Amino acid sequence: MKTVEAKEQQKDVAQSQVFRSLRDFLEFLDEQGQLRIIKGADWNLELGGLTELVWRKKLEDSPALLFDEIKGYPPGFRVLTLGVATTYRYTAASHLRPTKDRRQAITALRDQVAPVAIPPRVVSSGPVLENVVEKEKIDLATFPAPKYKEGEGGRFIGTGDVVITRDADTGLLNAGTYRVQIQGPNKVSAHMAPGRHGRIHVESFHRKGKPAPIVISVGQSPDLFLAACERFGKDVDELEMVGGRRGEPVDVVLGELTRLPIPATAEIVLEGFIYPDAEKVNEGPFGEFMGYYAGAHEQGHPEVSAINIERVYYRSEPIIFGLPHHRPPQDVVLEYRLAPRLWKELLDAGIPGIHEVNSLPFGSGMVNVISMRTQYAGHSTQVAMHAASSQTGYLLGHITIVVDEDVDVYDQDMVFWAVLTRCDPSRHLHVINNMVSFTLDPLTHDPLKYPVGDTTRARLVIDATKPFHWKNRFPRTTDLRSELKEQLLKKWERDLFRIL
Ligand SMILES: Cc1cc2nc3c(=O)[nH]c(=O)nc-3n(C[C@H](O)[C@H](O)[C@H](O)COP(=O)(O)O)c2cc1C
Repeated sequence: MKTVEAKEQQKDVAQSQVFRSLRDFLEFLDEQGQLRIIKGADWNLELGGLTELVWRKKLEDSPALLFDEIKGYPPGFRVLTLGVATTYRYTAASHLRPTKDRRQAITALRDQVAPVAIPPRVVSSGPVLENVVEKEKIDLATFPAPKYKEGEGGRFIGTGDVVITRDADTGLLNAGTYRVQIQGPNKVSAHMAPGRHGRIHVESFHRKGKPAPIVISVGQSPDLFLAACERFGKDVDELEMVGGRRGEPVDVVLGELTRLPIPATAEIVLEGFIYPDAEKVNEGPFGEFMGYYAGAHEQGHPEVSAINIERVYYRSEPIIFGLPHHRPPQDVVLEYRLAPRLWKELLDAGIPGIHEVNSLPFGSGMVNVISMRTQYAGHSTQVAMHAASSQTGYLLGHITIVVDEDVDVYDQDMVFWAVLTRCDPSRHLHVINNMVSFTLDPLTHDPLKYPVGDTTRARLVIDATKPFHWKNRFPRTTDLRSELKEQLLKKWERDLFRIL
């Protein structure tokens, strides 16, 4: 009993911390009662299925799951899932004071969007060098890479990963999260969508007829992963961003074959090359974040180039950072940088009246809500259109909802109440046609459009603000006024505490 109390107390006082390795983070989660160990699961479907069951049942209350003694593998060869799936763990991993409160999280993350860059520090050794395997000795089946879902095309060693590449022309580095599938004992494939910086880097080498160097970390400190899946500009080095957020450089060792930086505390790192004439392999299908399978076999995508792995580095008893996707709602990782970025972008654009921005959890980043004080006719449409086509919103923001300042963007019921009562569909719904989308979106597979490369789709804007020109005559809401609420809470605090 005492231990539980002590843990509860610790939860309250948890402060922001820098976790320089995945193991430091797991130690913290364990102290906070946020980690469960599951022994004996099969990498083939069980691990993914159990993760999905826990997530659906517990959502934001889900613990992180550390799978050990995976069927067919020695103890210690582990897979982590739901590692940063919740607001609490996401904020902890982002060097913020951990919080379960979404509003606090998004506000704090907004202020963290653009850190001052601190370049990584090259060191001569690190735990990642504990085991080094060369060329023909490499067998990727050494690691318990999961096949998460029944319809998947193979085992995905990289899901919560960090793929590091260099631009052949400028020398600039990039770290991105792209799913990585095992294609043979020393072969993998990476799914890099068009426009991804990693893909641009690979192409920059191939244009010169040279092999593209690549380093793939499939388990690392959570802040590196969070930065790798965040959308920074093309010339931004994510390792420098993490340094900025940590307030100290990230330690890296240089890959001997590629001279690319390898996080010194990483769990498992694959180093290799994509040769210009590399064999093409079928990538996927993979159970993607919109709740449908995507990848080669399913959707007739062009096959992708195999990556030759020529060296593997790993810590003893290594941990894969697994991140299977499910039908939304899912892992906050998929959405959490979007609302803070969109909010910052709207503020930076100098549009007046913006109050708050949230991305509704059930939409996994695809439904953005903005509250605002309308100040002139057309103002709400301006904000909504700006958000829907903004750098943050243009790809994922399928639905943009604008509400008045009195509507709490974190209260889904209230947002839909505003939609019901303030949005006249004949005037306040806007469908924007031919917007950018991506092939993970099932609607882009329209048999009439897809074969000719038309992957556009329409977006919906819902203006649920009171009509500007008569907003002062709009019927008053029956909600408790805040002054009365305060008075009641003050006077009845003790009795209410017992009831609520
Ligand atoms: C968990 C997770 C998995 C992702 N997997 C992929 C992927 O397989 N392929 C891809 O192109 N983008 C994927 N993304 C999106 C990219 O990681 C994201 O757009 C990132 O900004 C890409 O980095 P880049 O802009 O430096 O290329 C994923 C994002 C997350 C959060």
